[in-house]
Amino acid sequence: MTDTLTSPSGGTSETLTIRAPDDWHVHLRDGDMLAFCADYTARQFARAIVMPNLVPPITTEAMGAAYRDRILAALPAGRKFEPLMTAYLTDTIDPEEIASGFKSGVFTACKLYPANATTNSASGVSDVKNIWRVLERMQEIDMPLLVHGEVVSADIDIFDREAVFLDQVLAPVMKAFPRLRVVLEHITTEDSVRFVENGPETIAATITAHHLRIDRNDMFKGGMRPHAYCLPVAKRRLHREALRKAAVSGNPKFFLGTDSAPHQRSDKESACGCAGIFSAPNALESYAQTFDEMGALDRLEGFASEFGPKFYQLPKNEGEAQLRRSPQPVPEIMTADGIEIVPFHGGETMGWIFQPPGV
Ligand code: DOR
Ligand code: ZN
Repeated sequence: MTDTLTSPSGGTSETLTIRAPDDWHVHLRDGDMLAFCADYTARQFARAIVMPNLVPPITTEAMGAAYRDRILAALPAGRKFEPLMTAYLTDTIDPEEIASGFKSGVFTACKLYPANATTNSASGVSDVKNIWRVLERMQEIDMPLLVHGEVVSADIDIFDREAVFLDQVLAPVMKAFPRLRVVLEHITTEDSVRFVENGPETIAATITAHHLRIDRNDMFKGGMRPHAYCLPVAKRRLHREALRKAAVSGNPKFFLGTDSAPHQRSDKESACGCAGIFSAPNALESYAQTFDEMGALDRLEGFASEFGPKFYQLPKNEGEAQLRRSPQPVPEIMTADGIEIVPFHGGETMGWIFQPPGV
């Protein structure tokens, strides 16, 4: 719902009120970094699917429960936020551990990282056949599978990894487990958009704020731009256009997942820089800007607040979130307690401001 309000100065300012949104894919890290970043997500989103790629990864119900407690402890008193935990699939993970964690409510889903595909994925799955019994059990208990959709091997070009994954891994898994609900995370290609659109009701996809705004040229604008580097890597502009169309389409198979992934500035500005874009501080503003540019602000609520819960079979949130159209400068660097991070949109002025409830 958009309203035109008269401001005290006599001008007008537009506000956008939507049902409280969720982030269906985020990295909250641990320790000092968790303390730094957790509330940026919690202040904008009522719930978030929290990635398990810690060191060591979250592979047991007890680890999931303890991590959830650490997340809640990192938030300011009174903050209402529900972390939805995920289990990290390995070649040897016990299906009963997963099932027990799902039954007790500790785990909402499992995450498949192909081994060595991205940050802290060394213990990921080296061959999907190794988790066949786990997938069987997940299908049986209706536990969603979240996939990092890239095949990593020396002979596959990095820009083709996602498309190859669809053919070599995802299609066979979906054929073998036709009732398994699967989220293809952070899609970056037109191929993935079509795969999801044309697939059965069991497949959906998240789209990040950054993949809606950057293409591969942004990594090389006037020099190497490590803060535009993430995985899956941004692709050609035509793929970005396909993602933008999918996000605003109103198709409930596409919903919000920021993949906000903070790394210390020094770890990104390095000879071998880490992959990840920290979008949490301005995530909703960034999505609003894109939807606004697409003339589709009326579709933001479905994408941010309705389609995710529908797929995950969870209730929609009761509260509201408000965005106000107003210039918002974003700091180039964010610092606290020895941590320095360059946020997404750092140094830019955004067109929207998120208003925390009660302001
Ligand atoms: O860019 C990314 N960063 N992609 C991922 O898949 C992982 C993430 C991270 O954990 O840093
Ligand atoms: Zn991620």
